[in-house]
Amino acid sequence: MGRLPFFAGNWKMNKTVGEALDLVKGLKAAISGVIGVEGEVEVAVAPPFTALYAVRKEIEGSSIFLAAQNLYWEEKGAFTGEISPLMLKEVGCHYVIIGHSERRQFFGETDETVNRRIKAALAQGLKVIFCIGETLKEREGGKTFSVIERQMEGGLKGLDDREMGNMVIAYEPVWAIGTGKTATPEQAEEVHRFIRGKIEKLYSRGVSEEIRIQYGGSVTPENIKGLMNQPNIDGALMGGASLKAESFSKIVRFKEL
Ligand code: PGA
Repeated sequence: MGRLPFFAGNWKMNKTVGEALDLVKGLKAAISGVIGVEGEVEVAVAPPFTALYAVRKEIEGSSIFLAAQNLYWEEKGAFTGEISPLMLKEVGCHYVIIGHSERRQFFGETDETVNRRIKAALAQGLKVIFCIGETLKEREGGKTFSVIERQMEGGLKGLDDREMGNMVIAYEPVWAIGTGKTATPEQAEEVHRFIRGKIEKLYSRGVSEEIRIQYGGSVTPENIKGLMNQPNIDGALMGGASLKAESFSKIVRFKEL
């Protein structure tokens, strides 16, 4: 069986509760029939923490999965401002995004803290969207593959084959995020192929063939088809395009474009 295409909308620090509800209602209507029974694609939304509960109520009974944008690795305690894996599970999250480049850039995340977060999420039964990607400087310095390799080795440290079954990798070149500058399908495919090869080396052929690798960075209805035509691109993690039901749903319905 092939890999089920997976589209996730990362709303970042956008949408009040009211706005989040409007968006998810619009999205539900616009993608009905595409997901679910036919099982053609999988869809998740990652609202800010404040809107998780309301959005969960709204998507109940639909095939849209709920995702969080981050977590802290402790179960509970004196960690002011943080959210635990248990809290996310209980509020209805199925997925959590970990290691997004904005977390690494602005909030001091390292490969080691990303690894701790991933382990805590998996231990609580959450599936993980693990983000990796190089900066423009690293790409121009010919370091793309070594950076990806370091992020993978660090982030996945200690995970076994079974745990890898609950992982999704999102390749997001930092220079393409929110810039309107997408990687070409060929540029993305080259890195996706490398990532899959690295998973095979770290785990097995079986694990590498099953794991889904999303592309992220200025994905739009205009460029999704070319990306999805690549053999190692299994979906997208979208920022800007996921903030409107129209563009989000067009991307999910890429086969009809
Ligand atoms: P973008 O963001 O689609 O707005 O470029 C992607 C992401 O950061 O996940």
